[in-house]
Amino acid sequence: MSGKWDAKYSGMDFLYGTDANDFLVAHAALLPRAGRILSLGEGEGRNAVYLAGLGHRVVALDQSAVGLAKAERLAASRGVRIETCVADLADYAVAPGPWAGIVSIWCHVPSVIRRRLLGEVVRALEPGGVFLLESYRAAQIGRGGGGPADPDLTPSLADLCADLAGLDIVHGLETERPVAEGVGHRGLSAVVQVVARRH
Ligand SMILES: C[S@@+](CC[C@H](N)C(=O)[O-])C[C@H]1O[C@@H](n2cnc3c(N)ncnc32)[C@H](O)[C@@H]1O
Repeated sequence: MSGKWDAKYSGMDFLYGTDANDFLVAHAALLPRAGRILSLGEGEGRNAVYLAGLGHRVVALDQSAVGLAKAERLAASRGVRIETCVADLADYAVAPGPWAGIVSIWCHVPSVIRRRLLGEVVRALEPGGVFLLESYRAAQIGRGGGGPADPDLTPSLADLCADLAGLDIVHGLETERPVAEGVGHRGLSAVVQVVARRH
């Protein structure tokens, strides 16, 4: 699958733009100020670079080396530093802590991987650590404007709450909202959002 994403990111432009995701911007203040942030499926770096600009230490993980190379260039152009990690979440284990925050923006993986991954997220966060997720829902399929076509990649809020058992759900919402991110994500979109904290 990394070949598919390498190809998508091979152009000069940024597929989802260079501005951070709106949901992340709205909730970033909930991330602890100290400690490292892990961004899953970071792509071309817009969200990691935003968080680094807020003063966070960010590790940007993606299967696409092409995307993360662009992320490093974006960080340099903004005068911030990020760490990058090329890895496939299918065989990557999120090591237990200490992560102050873990972020997952449009990182759609098969449910069997998601369940295992989010279990690792629960154990990897430090006490007080925060998980932020925005994802497309199954209702988005067929609309165009972004998101996967396979329903197995589109969790419901109930799925996510079950996967994140052990965390306090601070914000959990299935909604429709306008998304405008580069040419890759456009229009009124069916999304699910979660903010969860380890107590
Ligand atoms: C829709 S893009 C979103 C990119 C970025 N989070 C953003 O909002 O701009 C999904 C990203 O998830 C990554 N991804 C999907 N499955 C993955 C996996 N199994 N391991 C690592 N990255 C994965 C893709 O390579 C891609 O960069």
